[in-house]
Amino acid sequence: MPQLIAGNWKMHCLAAEAVALARDIAAGAAGVTAELLVCPTALHLAAVAQALNGSVVTVGGQDCHQSKQGAHTGDIAGPMLLDAGATRVILGHSERRQNHGETDELVREKTVAAVAAGLIPIVCVGENADQRAGGQETEVVGWQIAGSLPKPFTGVVAYEPIWAIGTGKTATEEDVAIMHAFIRDELVRQFGDAGQTVRILYGGSVKAANAASLLAVPNVGGALVGGASLNAQEFLAIARAAQSG
Ligand code: PGA
Repeated sequence: MPQLIAGNWKMHCLAAEAVALARDIAAGAAGVTAELLVCPTALHLAAVAQALNGSVVTVGGQDCHQSKQGAHTGDIAGPMLLDAGATRVILGHSERRQNHGETDELVREKTVAAVAAGLIPIVCVGENADQRAGGQETEVVGWQIAGSLPKPFTGVVAYEPIWAIGTGKTATEEDVAIMHAFIRDELVRQFGDAGQTVRILYGGSVKAANAASLLAVPNVGGALVGGASLNAQEFLAIARAAQSG
């Protein structure tokens, strides 16, 4: 399976900037064997999807509601993302968990809703700095996997240590190898054979300079890239560092 290189644009870019960034990525994607995904703000999803129409770059959302419709002011439902051109959706990002109080249970409900809408969920897990300092990182991630993933699970898991997000600090290759092997074991334990093929992305300060070594670690199925995904050439350089599988 080729690796998946996903750009999480977070709350960046006005509409014209988002479309230009998408076009620049598509224009440079020739020869990239990794799968490419960009996740703009939901507001620009349709415009970005239109700009990427006919290219190999796919589009995803950054969150969705656990209901398919209803009286939920300001929220966005999975079917709306699909309708706007998304094929995937990031769920349970640590910024959602921290800033919006999202629990494992809510993330699981959102994951079920996303799959029901026809989207592939990318469910994020990861420990904070204190948890890692206390040696609890695998315990924390194990609980997040158990709580956030529905059974059966058809989607992608992203391991994003919170202390590495937007900080310029990356987990070492050894840290990543240990955690991704642990996540693989947990997925197989919880989901049987299906857990063998779930892609596990690494995220947290991935950039062109460290991508090749991180993407070569066993059980790393790609990268979830924040800051570096806002620069087309940097994002493409990460994609070119990916393994073709
Ligand atoms: P970063 O963000 O690459 O800027 O660290 C990653 C993420 O939050 O998905």
